[in-house]
Amino acid sequence: MKALILAGGKGTRLRPLTYTGAKQLVPVANKPILWYGIEEMVAAGITDIGIVISPETGREVKIKTGQGERFGAEITYILQDKPAGLAHAVQVAHPFLKDSPFVMYLGDNLIQQGDLSYFLKQFIQQQHDALILLRQVANPCAFGVAKVDEKGQVLQLIEKPKVPPSNLALVGVYFFSQVIHEAIAYITPSARGELEITDAIQYLIDNKKQVVACEIEGWWLDTGKKDDLLEANRLILDTYLKPLVLGEIDVESKIIGRVQIGSGSKVINCTIRGPVIIGSNCFLENCFIGPYSSIADNTTLLDSDLEHSVILEGAKIAGIHDRIIDSVIGQRAQLTVASRRPKALRFLIGDDCQVELM
Ligand code: G1P
Repeated sequence: MKALILAGGKGTRLRPLTYTGAKQLVPVANKPILWYGIEEMVAAGITDIGIVISPETGREVKIKTGQGERFGAEITYILQDKPAGLAHAVQVAHPFLKDSPFVMYLGDNLIQQGDLSYFLKQFIQQQHDALILLRQVANPCAFGVAKVDEKGQVLQLIEKPKVPPSNLALVGVYFFSQVIHEAIAYITPSARGELEITDAIQYLIDNKKQVVACEIEGWWLDTGKKDDLLEANRLILDTYLKPLVLGEIDVESKIIGRVQIGSGSKVINCTIRGPVIIGSNCFLENCFIGPYSSIADNTTLLDSDLEHSVILEGAKIAGIHDRIIDSVIGQRAQLTVASRRPKALRFLIGDDCQVELM
């Protein structure tokens, strides 16, 4: 059994963060989203992992993630030279996959821990040609959608339908036998010019191959957008964060609930109400940090209040007394208050940023 994790794509829905980095490396609870997928594979017993990368962000993914030692896996990187679809990625990875059955995992998806192992067992025991996972969603138009009969048998799969036949979205985790390669060789590009994995699975259905769909009940998030990223951050902190303080906290500070503070970080006169994770070498003074906040390494937070937010590496926030909530602040971004006159708002905001003032 092998795994194929897809870490290409442009990440347009997560701009501006993805102008300077891969969407799969955006951190959730201070860990790249991609790594959760790798860890799930290893936990399910799959250590032979291929990661499909793009020319734009592949180098960064490789440098950050490495050859797999830190996960107890062996990682092979596979370059997809153009964003020509998920099925195209499988095609490009065929020399790595050979005739092995495999799990395909979209690198920006997160599913509840343990679900992958559970469905992998079913797939292996029952020797399906494909096992797909479905989840009820409120906005099916944004996904691949399944039409199923009353017995749960999949009749049809449609990619991003205008009029969805159900609210069952295709989760970005698929289990395939080698017959998927035959299907991919047969399909042609969709209206958006991509070889769709959804069409390849539809080919299997049409050719009476064994395609089984299971509805998952645990949580699933496609972290491709800001609010989904914040929700993933909330869920991971809520479910898995263990208290651990390695940094220094002065006597004036109050730490409430589950809080992690990395080594070399200093907390002075702050109230931190967990679940909160703070990375290494951060400096926090006179701040309130509320629940569901992740603060990456080397950040500086002074005289500010924030909650339910993700702050990326090297950012600086100072003197912001209105509470910052539901926010994602990019690497090295600065949010400060200047004392100079005239009193005014001054911005240097990159392309596609979103700023909401009161
Ligand atoms: C892809 C698939 C879609 C699936 C979704 C899950 O869409 O094409 O069928 O429902 O992932 O995250 P994309 O995120 O590439 O638009």
